[in-house]
Amino acid sequence: MTTSHPHQADQAGHASRTDRSGETIQPNQPNQSFQADQSGQADQTGQADRSGHPDPADWLELNRAVWDERVPIHTSSQFYGLPGFLAGAESLRPFELAEVGDVSGRSLLHLQCHFGQDTLGWARHGATVTGLDFSAAAVRAAGELAGAAGISDARFVAANVYDAAQVLAGETFDIVYTGLGALCWLPDIAGWARTAASLVAPGGFLYLAEFHPFADVLGDDARTVVTDYFHRDGTVWDEPGTYTDSDVETRNTVTVEWQHGLGEVLSAIAAAGLRIEFVHEHDFTLFERFPVLEPDTDGITRLYRLPQGQPRVPLVYSVRAARPS
Ligand SMILES: C[S@@+](CC[C@H](N)C(=O)[O-])C[C@H]1O[C@@H](n2cnc3c(N)ncnc32)[C@H](O)[C@@H]1O
Repeated sequence: MTTSHPHQADQAGHASRTDRSGETIQPNQPNQSFQADQSGQADQTGQADRSGHPDPADWLELNRAVWDERVPIHTSSQFYGLPGFLAGAESLRPFELAEVGDVSGRSLLHLQCHFGQDTLGWARHGATVTGLDFSAAAVRAAGELAGAAGISDARFVAANVYDAAQVLAGETFDIVYTGLGALCWLPDIAGWARTAASLVAPGGFLYLAEFHPFADVLGDDARTVVTDYFHRDGTVWDEPGTYTDSDVETRNTVTVEWQHGLGEVLSAIAAAGLRIEFVHEHDFTLFERFPVLEPDTDGITRLYRLPQGQPRVPLVYSVRAARPS
């Protein structure tokens, strides 16, 4: 059985975890067609063991290769709409703007910033921004986007999120912002929370907006539970294309991803010394994750909701957690 995401429009690589035959995915089943590369080239084909199976322990290299390759596809995609952004369109979602509040004159670190569109969105609202991502291609594209947008004081750093405190040499920030397809790439949520918390200045806060882990266990009808909410091992997926373009040809297709329960994420943030101010669960998501979802708009963003009459489930959540002064 091939382990693949059925929904290509998925922002995080999160989809209902069934394969195309409708069977429940067994975690860590590598794609049988995965071939070891004899050439020793620095892409995913060099990441297979002798049996030809990708090793989840290689998650950092596997995932980075996928993200590096997707950067130019995403920057030219309709999904991200860079021409509109450069013309002044808002990239941040209204619920984020409302929940984060006024950022003018504040320092903001965006962890896992991709090519920096949302990072620069916060800069346009007056923050002094730093973006961090492990993809050198993403960080390069972010620098170029900042130049094109005329934002001269934005800084972008290439690093694994777990090395962020070290790479940023003890610097702290008024706001640490992250999410929307970020946590599923990280194996150790307690370690992530310790790192993120250490980057928050006294009086500052961590803001996380993320796809809800309960939605990860639902099938296409968004009401049937098809996978195990408590599954915590890394899962190897093999899927060509990307959420901005499912038909695009891609060379690196294997990722390793993790499902983190809401309680674990919140407990990790609290254990890292931050005081949770709110946890909001939202009945909308940001892409057509399930075929049954219906589009809606809040004036800026296209949101997707369950059809009227269907029992609602949380699709996105957001957390703000402060470091006391
Ligand atoms: C779905 S994107 C983030 C989405 C972002 N909200 C956006 O759409 O612009 C996930 C990002 O996480 C980055 N990433 C994944 N694992 C990482 C790691 N261990 N350290 C740093 N960045 C990582 C990827 O390079 C990618 O840019």
